[in-house]
Amino acid sequence: GLGSINIPVYVYVIYANSVQNISDSQVNSQIAVLNADFNDTNFSDVNTYPERGADVDITFTLATIDRRANSTSQWGTNDAVKSIYPAQPGHLTIWVANIGGGILGYAQFPGGNASTDGVVVSPQYFGTNGTATAPFDEGRTTTHEVGHWLNLRHIWGDGRCNRDDFVDDTPKSDRPNYGCPGQVSHCRSIDMTENYMDYTDDGCMGLFTQGQKERMRSVLAPGGPRDEYTT
Ligand code: ARG
Ligand code: ZN
Ligand code: CA
Repeated sequence: GLGSINIPVYVYVIYANSVQNISDSQVNSQIAVLNADFNDTNFSDVNTYPERGADVDITFTLATIDRRANSTSQWGTNDAVKSIYPAQPGHLTIWVANIGGGILGYAQFPGGNASTDGVVVSPQYFGTNGTATAPFDEGRTTTHEVGHWLNLRHIWGDGRCNRDDFVDDTPKSDRPNYGCPGQVSHCRSIDMTENYMDYTDDGCMGLFTQGQKERMRSVLAPGGPRDEYTT
């Protein structure tokens, strides 16, 4: 295999007020969560499927934080914020900007436009300190969005019980779960509500599966759509 894969990260903080201009410490707290979650060192005690947590073996290194004031206070999901600063080639680009509309974050899947490639996360759901707000104050929005950036679908396959997320070891479901539901079943199996690709609260998420690991790492392997980190 490829061993540990390092991805440099470029963070853009685009703020309309001082509250949205989150601290370096808050940014660093998010990088720490990414590294814990993608190396299975988070010691999560959520245990619906305790044996399935995979060490994805991807590390994230903060390269730069750039900040820019802008009078827009809600950016929506149409990528307008990315025209302030386009994506940084060779990096995972994270725009920290207030999306609004109750949306915590969104991501671009592999194969899209290079200038908009990356993830956008609202500042109040980024990192674990400063303005991070419960129950989304454990950095899992960014973990979830980076999962999409590495080609993962939602755990429920965005459809009915027979609609797949293209990962064999994730049980089927037909809907997102919210909050901390414990053991729930919608498709003749117990939902993997602690999977980062569900919609449960940050504190109730704790794993990617081996199948998700393989799907993500194939994106980064030579010949994959994001192979610039391994070639
Ligand atoms: N794109 C999803 C949303 O905005 C992200 C959900 C992240 N979930 C979480 N517990 N942090 O709704
Ligand atoms: Zn999602
Ligand atoms: Ca599945």
